[in-house]
Amino acid sequence: MIIGDRVRLRAINHDDLQLFVEWLNDPEVIEGLEQYFPLSIDQEEKWFENMLSSPPEEHPMMIEVKSNDGWLPVGNCGFMRIDWRVRSAEFGIFIGEKQYWSQGFGTEAVQLLMQHGFDTLNLNRVFLRVYETNKRAIRAYEKVGFSHEGRLRKAHFYNGEYIDVLLMSMLRQEWKNKT
Ligand SMILES: CC(C)(COP(=O)(O)OP(=O)(O)OC[C@H]1O[C@@H](n2cnc3c(N)ncnc32)[C@H](O)[C@@H]1OP(=O)(O)O)[C@@H](O)C(=O)NCCC(=O)NCCS
Repeated sequence: MIIGDRVRLRAINHDDLQLFVEWLNDPEVIEGLEQYFPLSIDQEEKWFENMLSSPPEEHPMMIEVKSNDGWLPVGNCGFMRIDWRVRSAEFGIFIGEKQYWSQGFGTEAVQLLMQHGFDTLNLNRVFLRVYETNKRAIRAYEKVGFSHEGRLRKAHFYNGEYIDVLLMSMLRQEWKNKT
């Protein structure tokens, strides 16, 4: 468990899958993600089985936020495509419970994940891809300290239109300078 002030990251259990199916069938949630088809519980079960056989460092984690009723699951985040020679990884995040958007929880979850990435996994570079239209996500990443480093022109197609994909990254030294 990775524990912060208002957010904690824990392992995903089989019991969580129904929540993921609800979140990942919500058009507003998946607008910022690569998911674009209706998702069934069977597909999610298969994803879960595959995930368990992937390296533990690449297992996504459940984001939970502190509430009056205890810790509530709201979304997930994790590293992908870790390159151990270059010590580089991509990360992804979503908060599926929309009522928790824009209250700083995403920023805190990314900060916790970066702390884990740089101080525990000993990564040197973390990068992400974000759609240019996803202003909330871009702002959250800027707040954590990510720099803009590139633009993949018309690399995404959504709602009948091509959209640029932005690349952002943070290096270990930049993280250290901020903390
Ligand atoms: C992206 C996401 C993880 C961010 O988490 P969050 O908890 O909503 O974000 P935070 O509250 O930490 O930060 C968002 C910031 O963007 C700002 N913001 C919100 N809407 C905005 C908009 N339309 N334009 C500009 N800034 C905006 C917020 O005010 C806040 O900035 P502030 O703290 O300076 O006021 C979350 O919104 C989410 O999961 N969205 C759906 C899935 C997704 O897009 N995932 C990212 C894929 S790259």
